Amino acid sequence: MSPSELAYDRRRLRQWLAGDARADGVARRDMLRLLAAAGLTAAAPAALASPAAAAGAAPAAVDGTAGSTRVAASAPGIVKPLPEEWFTVRGTNAETRFAALAGTGLHTPAERFFVRNHTSTPVLDADSWTLTVRGDGLHRAKPAEFTLDDLKRLPVTTRTAFVECAGNGRSFFTSQQGQAVTGTAWTLGAVGTAEWRGVRLAEVLRRAGLSHRAVDVMPVGLDAEYVTADGTNLGHVRRPLPVSKALDDVLLAYEMNGEPLPPDHGHPVRVLVPSWVGIASVKWVGDIEVSARPLYSPWNTDFYRLFGDAHPAGGSAPLTRQTLKSAFELPWEASVPAGVERRLTGRSWSGAGAVTRVEVSTDGGARWHPARLHDTPRRASWVRWSADWRPAAPGPYTLLARATDTTGRTQPDTTVPNTQGYLFDAVVRHPVTAV
Ligand code: MTE
Repeated sequence: MSPSELAYDRRRLRQWLAGDARADGVARRDMLRLLAAAGLTAAAPAALASPAAAAGAAPAAVDGTAGSTRVAASAPGIVKPLPEEWFTVRGTNAETRFAALAGTGLHTPAERFFVRNHTSTPVLDADSWTLTVRGDGLHRAKPAEFTLDDLKRLPVTTRTAFVECAGNGRSFFTSQQGQAVTGTAWTLGAVGTAEWRGVRLAEVLRRAGLSHRAVDVMPVGLDAEYVTADGTNLGHVRRPLPVSKALDDVLLAYEMNGEPLPPDHGHPVRVLVPSWVGIASVKWVGDIEVSARPLYSPWNTDFYRLFGDAHPAGGSAPLTRQTLKSAFELPWEASVPAGVERRLTGRSWSGAGAVTRVEVSTDGGARWHPARLHDTPRRASWVRWSADWRPAAPGPYTLLARATDTTGRTQPDTTVPNTQGYLFDAVVRHPVTAV
């Protein structure tokens, strides 16, 4: 067990013994509401037993993906075409170019949606796919099985939500702040917003026999086991969710923007965890463990936590909500005509609450002007915005966009660093040249 896993294990054990592990930060009142909605009564005191051992040892800070900025029309393991005008290929992943979102509407078309694959997209047959729900957090020993048709017969829920990689914006730790970080060198395009349709995970857990003892829920992907660059096999992609979140707004989604999920985005069924870091939204889900004890995987112990001098020794709590960001729908180092008024467009989003204000600066941050918002601010989604600008003279300009969300939080000038480069939220300095 690595030191970070040990620290996490101790924290969860303390929570568990105190009867707090089910909520992991969620107010008791909210937890009771969620349990009542799921048809369960209030939590009985947790049994005093030893916690499960952490899942297999994981290596130190590696994201396991190349940080190259190679531009190509295909990526190993991604099924859909990746035209250069829409995507930058980064190892096994494809980043959406923000300029390619101009005019696309609130929902990102599936064909332009970024792809983050630890290995490669499995092409699964929806007719023979089944979901197994099992574990000692159910009140029956036998696992429950669901086919896709079973899920489709359950009450349907539709949600607009972004999926965003925790490392989105990571390259700016280096290019803006001069800090070395590990992992895929995303700019701002490891995010997309779609309309997801499916069944609430709460509904499936209830039918599977969720017991009041349940603490954690761990969806497991059907893609190949993930082997890190140093040869360590970490097993299938999987990450526990506290039962409080699982019962709240999480979906088992089978449609994206009104169509069956495409192979690269989890066909036939993925987990959709609104507002949380993308790793929580496990694609190609085939198995869900429901546990009466805290669960562990490398994705909530060694990865997707904050490590480094500014963070607790042994690492932060596992990442949950995404942070606050803004991006212009403009190529990096774009050329624009001098002396001509143009409309700058972009998008801002936050995992903490709806974005309520966006300001734009066209002079490197000396003066700021409010942008016009084109969408009603909604949690878990983004807002499109615009601002008019006439670059008076030819030359270099730095454009900045800065969002504020319903919690009152505004994007800062710099982000406190962490070794794996997660949750970059600082204002990005976007260079353009007027010609
Ligand atoms: N689920 C599985 N099974 N395998 C994966 O590699 N990647 C995760 C998550 N779910 C992943 C997964 C990460 S890190 C992100 S950011 C999102 O999927 C990306 O979703 P997308 O590829 O549909 O954009």
